[in-house]
Formats: sequence, C-alpha cells, structure tokens
Amino acid sequence: MNYNKKTVTDIDVKGKKVLLRCDFNVPMAKDGSGVITDDKRIRAALPTIQYLLDNGAAVIACSHMGKPKGEWKPELSLKPVAVRLSELLGQEVIMASDIIGEDAKAKAAALKPGQILLLENLRYDKGETKNDPDFAKALADLAGADGVYVSDAFGTVHRAHASTAGVAAYLPAVSGFLIQKELEIIGGALAAPKRPLVAILGGSKVSSKIGVINNLLEIADTISLLEADWEDYANEMVKKAADKGVKLLLPVDTVAADAFAPDANTQVVTAGEIPDGWQGLDIGPKTIELYKAAVADAGTVIWNGPMGVFEFDKFAVGTKAVAEALSKTSAITIIGGGDSAAAVQQLGYAEKMTHISTGGGASLEFMEGKELPGVAALLDK
Ligand code: 3PG
Repeated sequence: MNYNKKTVTDIDVKGKKVLLRCDFNVPMAKDGSGVITDDKRIRAALPTIQYLLDNGAAVIACSHMGKPKGEWKPELSLKPVAVRLSELLGQEVIMASDIIGEDAKAKAAALKPGQILLLENLRYDKGETKNDPDFAKALADLAGADGVYVSDAFGTVHRAHASTAGVAAYLPAVSGFLIQKELEIIGGALAAPKRPLVAILGGSKVSSKIGVINNLLEIADTISLLEADWEDYANEMVKKAADKGVKLLLPVDTVAADAFAPDANTQVVTAGEIPDGWQGLDIGPKTIELYKAAVADAGTVIWNGPMGVFEFDKFAVGTKAVAEALSKTSAITIIGGGDSAAAVQQLGYAEKMTHISTGGGASLEFMEGKELPGVAALLDK
C-alpha cells in the first residue's frame, strides 16, 4: 500500500471550502453531562485546522461520535466538541443542527474564509457507515464546486465509510498533518525500522492481536508478549518466530491475584502455574527484567497493549516498568493507541515517547499490514 499521499500543503485551499474529516470520537463522562474526559483527539486536529484557517479556507469539520446506528441520540451529539474546539482555537465554532440537512447547507453556504463550521454526528445518518454514495455526495456538495476534502481522522482510517472513503469520489482528497505524521512514523517503523525492532504486545484482548503478531513476525527482531494462553496458536507462533530468527520473549513469571479487584491478595508464580481460582493480572519481576533488557538496546520499539491491569495500582507495576524503560531508551518509541496510550498518559510518561498514536483499531490494522480505506482514498503524491 502506498502511504505517500498528498497533504494540505500540496493543494491550494485559499478561498475554498474544505470538508475536513476529523476523529472527534472523544470519551465523554458517563453521566450524560457532556463533559469530555480526554480532549487529546481534538488537540491532535488543531495543527491542520489552524493551517486551513490561516490559509484562507472555510472549514466544514465533521466527525462521528460513538455508534448511534442512524438514531438521533442526543448524548452522542458533537455540541460539546464544538465548545471545546472553540476554546482551543480561540474563535467561534459554528455548530450545525444537522449533517446534510437545511441548517448545514445554509451554514456551509454562508461560511467565510477563516471560519469553521462543525456538522452533527455523521453516524446519525445510516448512510455514513454504509458508505452510501448519495450521502457521500451530499457531504461533498457542502464544500461546493471547487471544494476540497481533507482527512485528518487517523482513528477512523480503517473504516470504509462515506466520510472517510466515499467522499473522495467527488472532491480532490488529501491528508492533514495528523494522518501524515501517523503514516510517516508508524509506516516508517514498519517499512524501514531502525533496528533492532522490538515489539511489545499485551492487553486483555489477545485474540485481537494475532494479526499484528503475524505481521510483526515478518518484520521485528524481538517480540515481547504479555501472554500466550491460546495454545495452538502459541505453538505455531513459537515455530514461526524460530523460522524467521525473531527472538520471541514470553513471560517467565506472573503476578497472580485471587480476585479481579484492586485489593486482591497476590502471589508471584512461574508462568503457566497460576493456581486454580486465581488469575494473572500483571507480569512478574523476572519478566520485567527480561523486557527491560530487550528495550535497552532497541533501535525502535512498538508497544501495543498494557502488561497488566494498570487501572489498579497493584497491577500497574509491569506496565509502569515498561513505560519507564521506554522513556529512558534512545530508541524511536511508538505507542499504539487505545489502552497503551491511556496507560502511558496515566503513568506520566507521555512526553517521553516519540509518538503516541491517536488510533486504536486503526493503528492495530495498520500494524497488521492491512490496507486502510481512509488512506487508500487519498491522492498519491
Ligand atoms: C476509535 O475510537 O477507535 C475510532 O473513532 C473509530 O471508532 P469505531 O470503532 O466506532 O469505528
């Protein structure tokens, strides 16, 4: 797949209307108060938005939020995002009360260079996830005859939806700075890594990482894994690693707990010897040393998935030790999005990493070597 895509700097946006796809799918407080609990994704879109506004474009921003499946769920409105974005930009963000309806059309038509409009949640319309050509065309029409489409929604590039892929049939399509950075750093590490390339893979959904492990077995020098509890696959993987000359590090010890609770009783056991009724909630001290040593002389480290239940202090030790080791290495350090990004942030190491991806599922699929529809849709350089 070609990751060398045209960006906003390759196209003239002056006096044009730009349909800008962002990933403003931010976590919100569960009480329905509309409080955004982490605005990282909004901040990550600022460089592109500011560039477009400074260069005389009128910006029609759009995003999804959650999975409303075509239903108009008020708790998934993008209104709180408009408020936060406006605070961060220091200018008004005009909010449309619909997506491709009368309000959005009128506000888009009246939009002046240097102004920004935000459409309502794209997934309030079923046409979005179905990649319906009529819906895509209606979105494109908001930008008018000489409009431009800019995608900066890295978190959503693995979805072939109307606003991430379909719309590119109707407007010249380029990437924003966020997608460009994600492609350069993650794509660079996969295509021509500074070696040795060490991949550290963990997390609770091990099955969702199999594709990543398979792809990284082709590329990496060392892979450290949190667990390998799905036996058939583990054997196959051990064999494949040996054939490819990849050093595969599995945990040698585990912190076992008698309950999934922050105050559970614990004991360190040899890997594979968790007593009945107990569960492994973190890697043990010997494994920590093993993984730290692998990181110490790496050229590039890709980390996806925490080492334990880091939300509980007692079981954050392994994740913290790996984060600390990454913060001290001179290697390029890339943190896959989702839980690993949250862990690095929560533990206070975010500033020390080369790159923390804004994509959860998107960065996983990228690391699996899959084609990303939202990237494939953009113009090649
Ligand atoms: C994400 O949060 O990973 C992206 O916004 C994509 O969301 P989705 O999984 O609902 O498509």
